Amino acid sequence: MLPVLAPFPTTRLRRMRRTAALRDLAQENALTAKDLIWPLFITDVPGADAPVASMPGVQRLTLEGAVRAAETAAELGIPAICLFPYTDPSLRTEACEEAWNPENLSNKVIRAVKAAVPEVAVMTDIALDPYNANGHDGLVRDGVILNDETVEALVKMALAQAEAGADILGPSDMMDGRIGAMRAALEAAGHADVTILSYAAKYASAFYGPFRDAVGASDRLVGDKKTYQMNPGNSDEAIRLVARDLAEGADMVMVKPGMAYLDICYRVKQAFGVPTFAYQVSGEYAMIKGAVLNGWVKEAVIAESLLAFRRAGCDGILTYFAPDVARALKG
Ligand code: PBG
Repeated sequence: MLPVLAPFPTTRLRRMRRTAALRDLAQENALTAKDLIWPLFITDVPGADAPVASMPGVQRLTLEGAVRAAETAAELGIPAICLFPYTDPSLRTEACEEAWNPENLSNKVIRAVKAAVPEVAVMTDIALDPYNANGHDGLVRDGVILNDETVEALVKMALAQAEAGADILGPSDMMDGRIGAMRAALEAAGHADVTILSYAAKYASAFYGPFRDAVGASDRLVGDKKTYQMNPGNSDEAIRLVARDLAEGADMVMVKPGMAYLDICYRVKQAFGVPTFAYQVSGEYAMIKGAVLNGWVKEAVIAESLLAFRRAGCDGILTYFAPDVARALKG
């Protein structure tokens, strides 16, 4: 007698892919406008509110332009914008005092945006590079990036931004001890509700090149940032940094860059289960945008690249594509 064979194959995974409706039902991760933070470059330098050559489609904005962008974010359902100033060269000094000037460009834009569009969260960047004569994120003495002196400066910067009304402070400097120092200072100054999104696992990456063009730091940067940003070969260190920053009072953590570091996003989310963000940085934007503009890849790679961050466990993504993607998602 012939054996009775089970119908083959027993598991047909293609069944759930047969129609769009079934695929939608079975979809595990999704991207929405609510997952996006839109980084903006701002300037008050006459003539600098121009396109950034290495980031086609991205332009530096005036204060008024930033307020209009925040209005657009609100219309598109993007919950937050993040400000990056292109500072007047005369205000870039070794001591970086402009960084904590209550009337500096960033603080003016924070106030203007919060007055016009209060429902959009304003995130800031905390690092000295837009104000530093040598392009570094920290104070420099005899070629050495000073840690503790830099933290003191960053705390002043954080307090000025909190005072101006920032909702989310984004320390991107990678100094040791800055989160704890900022959190203590915020508590003492009556800003207990201001959130900190720590750039916790930030790598020393060549993907930041176009950003440095956008904020005018490329030609200034002396040397590299490898003594404070992470070695791209490391993974366990990212876990230690995230644990440290959370213990010091960070509310959210970031992995940066994004696409080349999806393994780190995944590990961080798995290990801590805290609000985790990825920054799809300027070089990633430039690569994708350049290929799309040349017709080498389809525009669909943009949303696919962002969905990958959600699959890796990220709650949100900082991306220069934010308005385009939010518009596309709206249909
Ligand atoms: C400043 C800062 C950088 C970026 C965000 N904040 C540049 C750097 O560390 O050199 C990069 C963002 C991007 O490339 O889009 N500390």
